[in-house]
Amino acid sequence: MRTAIAALLCLATSAAAPVEPATLRDAAAGRFLVGTAVMSAALNDPAKAALVAGQFDALTGENEFKPATLHPRPDRYAFAPADRLVDFAAGHGMRMVGHTLCWHEQTPAWFYQDAAGQPLPRAVGLAHLHDHIAAVMGHFKGRVLGWDVVNEALTDSPDPAAPDLRDSPARRCIGNDFVAQAFAAAHAADPAAELYYNDYNIEAPPKRDRALRLLRSLKAAGLRVDAVGVQGHWALARPDVPTVDAAIAAFAAAGVRVSITELDVDVVQRRGSASTTGQATTRRFDPYRDGCPPVVLAAQAARYADLFRCFVRHGRTVERVTLWGLDDGQSWLNHLHPPGPANYPLLWTARLEPKPALAAVLDALR
Ligand code: G3I
Repeated sequence: MRTAIAALLCLATSAAAPVEPATLRDAAAGRFLVGTAVMSAALNDPAKAALVAGQFDALTGENEFKPATLHPRPDRYAFAPADRLVDFAAGHGMRMVGHTLCWHEQTPAWFYQDAAGQPLPRAVGLAHLHDHIAAVMGHFKGRVLGWDVVNEALTDSPDPAAPDLRDSPARRCIGNDFVAQAFAAAHAADPAAELYYNDYNIEAPPKRDRALRLLRSLKAAGLRVDAVGVQGHWALARPDVPTVDAAIAAFAAAGVRVSITELDVDVVQRRGSASTTGQATTRRFDPYRDGCPPVVLAAQAARYADLFRCFVRHGRTVERVTLWGLDDGQSWLNHLHPPGPANYPLLWTARLEPKPALAAVLDALR
């Protein structure tokens, strides 16, 4: 009898113990949305679909909303793969993010160039940009939280005297105001949708200052920019947390909110860059073909925890943190220098096992 009572008491105690949130969306609730980017084909796998629906409250199409997918020919729109993601998000209480309306990659040449590769007349390119934005945002009206209106327009030049905008087909055709034109068209197409400017490496000067100038100039022109997307394709030691801290504060001071839109933590040294891991490697550019060592996974977990603690500190500014992919098996980083390297940048393994980084993120969010 005594044993039975003790067992009951033990059960009651454990039942009363606080239940720690086991999902990213629950752990981040009230702070920011946590998202993932997938291709619609990932939803064919029930285990992946369950993980996406169970863990995240925001969804980005990794390729489905890009002009090349949605609008391959002037007279043809192909909405089905993006619609599938939008329906999945709606069915699972997730917010959908549209990526992206205007980008120099994954955009058919006919948007801004003639058959000889020369820029189309400004009026023609502008009409293509406006028509695309009106048709795409019109199609998804009310079903997409916000749009990366323009992606990666800023130059990577380290020369502070270089023009802020990169050379691109849209810029050559329309001129420097193509960014402003895109934001004006996006606001007109769906005034209720959030509008974002999205780019990489904008946490660090000099690109951060270029981003700030661009955002201020758009606002000075009376255009609405709700948030800046800091992509967050980062590595174990780069950028350091104070740099991220300072960038978020600077964007907040410029009057925009911040989303981390494409987060991953690369553990493999990139060609032409300094070592990201500090590990001596025999196979310099594909060191972890046979698996990622525990010591590297632990360093990655600590890195993710540091970054999420930083995002939590800026909870009034940071509105969403989206990981660029679901699991290590399908990250774009595995194809950076085909056929490899084998990279391990995300929170689940290719077999959908949780990594130390997942526990570290959940812990940082508690
Ligand atoms: O769909 C074709 C398929 O038919 C073909 O057999 C295969 C052969 O290579 O290619 C497939 O297309 C690939 C597509 O991903 C879908 O898998 C493209 O070659 C490949 O270039 C494309 O890569 C995407 C990349 O953007 C394009 O620049 C990545 O998946 C996607 O993760 C990546 O995402 C970008 C963001 O949009 C912007 N920020 C940087 C980020 C990483 O590069």
